[in-house]
Amino acid sequence: MVKSINLIYISLSGNTESFVKRLKAYLEGKTDLPVKLLNVKDLVKDQADYFAMSDYFVAFLPTYLEGGNGLDSGDVEILTTPLRDFLAFSDNYRYCYGIVGSGNKNFNNQYCLTAKQYAKQFGFPMLDDFELRGLLDDVERIGDKVLSLFKEPHTVSNV
Ligand SMILES: Cc1cc2nc3c(=O)[nH]c(=O)nc-3n(C[C@H](O)[C@H](O)[C@H](O)COP(=O)(O)O)c2cc1C
Repeated sequence: MVKSINLIYISLSGNTESFVKRLKAYLEGKTDLPVKLLNVKDLVKDQADYFAMSDYFVAFLPTYLEGGNGLDSGDVEILTTPLRDFLAFSDNYRYCYGIVGSGNKNFNNQYCLTAKQYAKQFGFPMLDDFELRGLLDDVERIGDKVLSLFKEPHTVSNV
């Protein structure tokens, strides 16, 4: 039984946070389920505040890579590793319906690369992507996908 729509993300310069806040408002107009947001950056760095999830969630991840071109170099994640650690903690990834990547298309092959890496590592789908703060279209498209995941009784294969 789904009790809430949980959106777990990391945001360093505020773009992803802006997107998930607009997504929350959109979802609240479409469902009576409470929409809960968690920025893992707000959890302390030594993981003492990490906790085991027992509810399903969707993850949101901007891309921060260390230089390179995303082909033969530049696939090393910087700054966003707390989300990876949170997903690994207590096997929380088992409750993740999927991940939405974000980034800047000027980065070409590196656009949203880290979300693709997480999907491969943890075995959940990459649901969608958006650029920077995302447009209204992105909020509506991704919001409808999120809603359908939480509305239909659903288990992910790796739980
Ligand atoms: C140091 C740095 C590296 C970045 N590297 C990438 C990248 O490799 N690929 C990409 O798509 N976007 C890249 N971006 C763009 C960010 O993903 C984008 O600005 C995103 O919206 C930031 O989200 P936030 O404001 O929630 O932290 C980079 C930005 C910075 C500042």
